[in-house]
Amino acid sequence: MRPREIVPGVYYVGAVDWDRRLFDALIPLPEGTSYNAYLVQGSEKTVLFDTVDPSKTEVLLEYLEGVESLDYIVIQHAEQDHSGSLPVVMSRYPKARVLCSPKAIDLLATHLHVPAEALTAVADGEELSLGDKTLRFLHTPWVHWPETMSTYLVEDRMLLSCDLFGSHLATSDLFGRDEEVLPAAKRYFAEIMMPLRPAVRKNLEKLGTLDLDAIAPSHGPIHGHPSVIMNAYRDWVDGPARNLVVIPYVTMHGSTLALVEHLTGALAVRGVRVERFDLSTVDLGRLAVAMVDAATLVVATPTVLTNPHPAMMSALHLIGALRPPVRHLAVLASYGWASNVADVVISLTAGLKAEMMEPLLVRGSPRAEDLSRVDELAAAIAARHAEEGLE
Ligand code: FEO
Repeated sequence: MRPREIVPGVYYVGAVDWDRRLFDALIPLPEGTSYNAYLVQGSEKTVLFDTVDPSKTEVLLEYLEGVESLDYIVIQHAEQDHSGSLPVVMSRYPKARVLCSPKAIDLLATHLHVPAEALTAVADGEELSLGDKTLRFLHTPWVHWPETMSTYLVEDRMLLSCDLFGSHLATSDLFGRDEEVLPAAKRYFAEIMMPLRPAVRKNLEKLGTLDLDAIAPSHGPIHGHPSVIMNAYRDWVDGPARNLVVIPYVTMHGSTLALVEHLTGALAVRGVRVERFDLSTVDLGRLAVAMVDAATLVVATPTVLTNPHPAMMSALHLIGALRPPVRHLAVLASYGWASNVADVVISLTAGLKAEMMEPLLVRGSPRAEDLSRVDELAAAIAARHAEEGLE
């Protein structure tokens, strides 16, 4: 394979992973992913940006076959899906200087066993001339790790943004079509960036001042309309909550499902939209995406040995980690003889800045009076959404 030219002197040399279906042994990848690397050839110097996941080292090496020398290798992020092939690339280009952010030095040395003395830190805002091209390094911490940085190609008005603005989307297109990339980018945001919203906000402010023709992330296709993905990110980070209730649920003998069915109808007639996710079959990425916008989260679960169902326990750990910006949280649970579900939910979602509504626990199959209580819960949720003017 030969490097694919993006603009004169800037080439795509990454690896598309069409068949990968799971990231971090956790995140479903229904559309595969890519580990992007870019080659920038100035009139005097040549630079490789990032390497690729170690499972795809051979792809990168094949792209680099005609590249006799590299002056620099820039590692923008130490996570192995971008840095993992660095040791092999360093041995192929022993004279190349490896540049990274100051915090990346320890991480790269720790994770890849690269000697720290072989790494050179670049400062935030530092520029490097390649002859007719200028690189400006921009520290962008916590999107995704503390050491992460981006690079602005000044003359090409292109931002190499690393994980920020990425998408898990395998495609043969260099530039994505907005209508295809945005849903994948939102899913990526929900899974990776949502718990890091304050850092994302700060970095959006910093990068938003750049004059941009394109944004080239480290996963998924390049954005040819930078304002589209920038504005989408602003909406995902700070946009208003929607008049939406998300209900992850599990049912064993149908009692919890009956409660969920009744709540769905009771919310719908009050003009509140509902998205439901059966945890026995759900792709957790879809649940994460829904929580980007939802004003209310209702956790619906049976009780297993006084605790939430194990599938819900797993989902609650994820929800606690992703810290979705939901405003209200409710518990809908069924039980046989005793239940500690409400306390467990409160404990596992302690990091959410959400109002905990009165838990609704039902013993055995729901009766008419139980369903009346579900109506009351729906009315309370609808009233809050109305008071907040949610659309
Ligand atoms: Fe794609 Fe945080 O690595």
